[in-house]
Order: sequence, then C-alpha cells, then structure tokens
Amino acid sequence: MKYAKVRKAVFPVAGLGTRFLPATKASPKEMLPVVDKPLIQYAVEEAVGAGAEVLVFITSRTKRSISDHFDRAYELETELELRGKKTELELVQGIVPAHVTCVYIRQAEAQGLGHAVACAEPVVGNEPFYVILADDLIDGDQHSALLQMRNVYERYGHSVIGVERVAQEETGRYGIITPEEISPRLYQVKHIVEKPKPAAAPSTLGVVGRYLLTPRVFELLRKTGKGAGGEIQLTDAIQALLGYEEVQAYEFAGTRYDCGSKFGYLKATVEYGLKHTELGDEFRDYLMRIGTELRAAGRTE
Ligand code: G1P
Repeated sequence: MKYAKVRKAVFPVAGLGTRFLPATKASPKEMLPVVDKPLIQYAVEEAVGAGAEVLVFITSRTKRSISDHFDRAYELETELELRGKKTELELVQGIVPAHVTCVYIRQAEAQGLGHAVACAEPVVGNEPFYVILADDLIDGDQHSALLQMRNVYERYGHSVIGVERVAQEETGRYGIITPEEISPRLYQVKHIVEKPKPAAAPSTLGVVGRYLLTPRVFELLRKTGKGAGGEIQLTDAIQALLGYEEVQAYEFAGTRYDCGSKFGYLKATVEYGLKHTELGDEFRDYLMRIGTELRAAGRTE
C-alpha cells in the first residue's frame, strides 16, 4: 500500500532555553554549535535527508538568528566571492538546498509543545509531517532516526514516534509509552503519558524529539487542554489519537545526545569533534593526552 509522502517538517524553536543561561539570553539554544554547525542545522539536514521540502519553524521573539541562518546572506556571500573563498561560499550557500522552502510562524504565547505544533496546522494542512526537537541531537547508525521512522510509516501508514530506553529514575523528563512489541525495536503504542514519576511509569521507553504524525493530531490538539506542567502537551494529543488510529513507536538505532543539558551537549561536542574530518585526528590525540594526565593525577591523589 502507498501512503502520502512526508514532505513537511515542523521545528518548535520557541522555548526559552533556561538551562543554558546566560548563553541563551539573547541567542536561541537551537543556535548553539556542536563543533561548527548549530543544532538546528543538524535537525534541518536530518529532515531534508528524510524527504522534507517545507520546513516550518515555530519561533518566538528572540529567535531572529534562526531565520537569518537559513536565509541568503548577500554581504557575506559577496565578500567570500571577492576573496576567492570558494569552499566557504559553497558551505554558506548550501545550508538549505534550492528545492526546500522555509516558513516561519510566531508562537505568540509559550503554551507548550502541543500548542507549538498546533501553530503549524495552516502550513501543514492535511498531510503527514515530522516534528523534530533540535536539542535532541541524534547520530543514527547508517540511517538517521527520521529515515528509520519513515521506513516504519511506509509499512504501516500510521504515526510513528521515536523512542529510546531511558533510566528508570528519569522517566519524569519524558513522554513514556506502554509498548506492545511487534518485532525487535518496533512497538505498538497502547498508551502514552507525559513525564510520569518513576514509580508510575508504564515502561522505560521514552519519547525523544522525533515524531512522524498523521494530520488528525491537529484536530485533537485543538481539544487538548493543559496537561503536565500546565502546558498543552503533544503527548496528550497522541494519547487521544490512539482512540482513532494505531500509533507505532520505533527504537531507532543510533545515539541520542540530550543537548538541552550541559552534560549531553559536552558529550555531543566531544563525539562530533572526534568524527570531524578536519579535526578528528588532532582532537583524538589531545583527548588521549589529557586522559593519560587525568589517570596519572588520579593515581597520585
Ligand atoms: C518534550 C516532550 C516529551 C519528550 C521530550 C523529548 O519534553 O513533551 O514527551 O519526551 O520532549 O526531549 P520537554 O523536553 O520539552 O520538556
């Protein structure tokens, strides 16, 4: 069976980023770089690689630099051209491929992730779409998390949410599913709940920032009242969706870095630094050297 193609991706980027203050006082957390690319660009590349042609950013007041980042930069481009910096010019011009359109919607009030996604309805309309939370940076094994999830969608035609095993004591930070295993890594979602306390969590399969949703979720978001933390939760609308359609969850192969936390962000920086084509070798030597120094210091303590 053929299902509608996923052509649109929604990026809720209106959050305050309080965990990274003061870095995020005047600039968005999604613009924090991991080595040389801002988090939002990794997210955009993943979406485009999974077929997205229309990128919908749900933004707020302090997020101008995100739209600037995906726009043309004529002064910079002219300057790079004049100086003969061809590689840099290609880098800047290739941030968004020509067939991709960016749309920006201002979320006037920060009422939660569900509210942010609902703001995208006029652009997404009656089509399946991705939702990507840029602070969950995912380094997929072979294929990106979204591509792996799209494969599931192409088999079943339902919404697919990206999950991973989280520590029992951390269930209160995630949407948690009640799973029924279909095959390794693939689950039927029986129930989903936002940020349950460890004792009340139905499993340790937590939703990380990747969703492929069918458009019926918009109708349900309109009826979703405030949930956990007094916010309109996407999780609650997905729970309501279960009353009408199946939803699958996929435990993608890959590593997720929680770049909304300082430690996760540092880990991502180290791992992406090690993989970097220009820096990797030098950075590895450096880490080995400080590893040796730290071990030696540990022995003498
Ligand atoms: C949001 C979602 C939550 C999900 C998490 C993943 O929470 O509401 O269900 O597990 O993202 O990062 P937030 O981190 O915005 O509080």
